[in-house]
Amino acid sequence: MTRAGVILAAGLGTRMKSALPKVMHEIAGRPMLGYVIDAMRAAQVDRIVVVTHAEGAEVRAYAAGRDAESAVQDEQLGTGHAAACAAAALSDFGGDVVVCYGDMPLIRPETFSDSFAARARTGMAMVGFRPADPAAYGRMIVDAHELLDRIVEFKDASPAERAVDLCNAGILTADAKSFFRWAGALSNDNAQREYYLTDVPSLAKSEGVRCAVVTASETDMMGVNSRADLAAAEAAMQRRLRARALDAGAGMVAPETVHLSFDTVLEPDCLIEPYVVFGPGVTVRSGARVRAHSHLEGAEIRTGAVAGPFARLRPGAVLEENVHIGNFVEVKNSRVEKGAKANHLAYLGDARVGQGANIGAGTITCNYDGFDKHPTDIGAGAFIGSNTALVAPVKVGDGAYVGAGSTIAKDVEADSLAVTRAAQRGIAGWAGKFRQRKKSERKA
Ligand code: UD1
Ligand code: CA
Repeated sequence: MTRAGVILAAGLGTRMKSALPKVMHEIAGRPMLGYVIDAMRAAQVDRIVVVTHAEGAEVRAYAAGRDAESAVQDEQLGTGHAAACAAAALSDFGGDVVVCYGDMPLIRPETFSDSFAARARTGMAMVGFRPADPAAYGRMIVDAHELLDRIVEFKDASPAERAVDLCNAGILTADAKSFFRWAGALSNDNAQREYYLTDVPSLAKSEGVRCAVVTASETDMMGVNSRADLAAAEAAMQRRLRARALDAGAGMVAPETVHLSFDTVLEPDCLIEPYVVFGPGVTVRSGARVRAHSHLEGAEIRTGAVAGPFARLRPGAVLEENVHIGNFVEVKNSRVEKGAKANHLAYLGDARVGQGANIGAGTITCNYDGFDKHPTDIGAGAFIGSNTALVAPVKVGDGAYVGAGSTIAKDVEADSLAVTRAAQRGIAGWAGKFRQRKKSERKA
């Protein structure tokens, strides 16, 4: 049986107080919507329709980039109305559909799989959870057989209904044809004058279709409505990512201080020291070490290499085996080959640093002229003296030396010395005379 998914993402997200559509806010470096798409795909949902606001071009572009279709909800008339807006896109679809909100980044594929299984047994399924604080979630009223009788939105609920602790997570699974028929028949006769997705089970029940309640954990079902919720979801995602990394054999001295990205690859036996921040696209190979307070994105650190403390690795940084990148060194779009070292205060951008080369403190690749970026090529075993400016495009040959304080704008031959420093002058007795003059000026 083929499966389709509808993700509701057309709400204004007013409570976020943001110009960015709510579902595009990131958690661990990826938009919330991305997690819902991923979880659906992992549960064999092959067609996904994202329902967006007319002004949700950003959301539609993201959906397209993830091979999902989109539909537009012109007016925000409620979650049921939003789901109905996906009907046209799925008019040719005859399998099962799962409808889910786009603001649930901690959703797991298992919850979708369980829902499809329950729908196959019962006719329809919705997911419930029991949060410590049920707050303003919709309440699920079940019958004697634990089947769903109806959902009452918090604003419409009586005190007795509000006392129910089983809450609606917002995941509905049904036969697509029937679902869209029900979604098109909803009324808005309620406190918010909205067409509620949560009224679909009652319509189904009136036709004799039963609805099972699948339960999931509070964390998995967390809905993000505000900045505070977003921060709480981020914290929960970080706990999940760290637990996964530790389970897979990554070493972390103080995991609670390490900030991971959704796609961080930490191979077994790498070691991550405290307070390291991983942006997207980082791989740390077995036997590599990231020292404290480093910030990494789009980088690969291979076996035996050490980055940090206080290293900054930006996209395209590759540290090959046994490389050392020390404190306050920034590496961007550069390959640092085996055993090379840049231990202090340097900027390597658009460069290749050859095997075993040594980059002195204060070395800067001047890679940008205000318009274009230019490459720097440093040969194997080269030695770049401290405080060197390498004006790209420029090459330093294998085994060459660059004297400290040089500005190198022309290629340096292999095994040669290049030095551009002005000759040093010595003026004997100058300092004493200078001090005397200053003292007599003060007295006068
Ligand atoms: C909804 C549920 C509530 C549930 C809670 C779980 C309804 C009526 N209520 O409430 O029972 O406990 O989620 O988190 O379904 N959206 C649209 N178009 C609209 C309105 C909303 O696309 O016209 C989208 C939003 O972008 C969002 C999702 O639907 O992704 C949920 O809407 P939201 O307003 O956050 O619903 P809640 O009030 O949280
Ligand atoms: Ca919500």
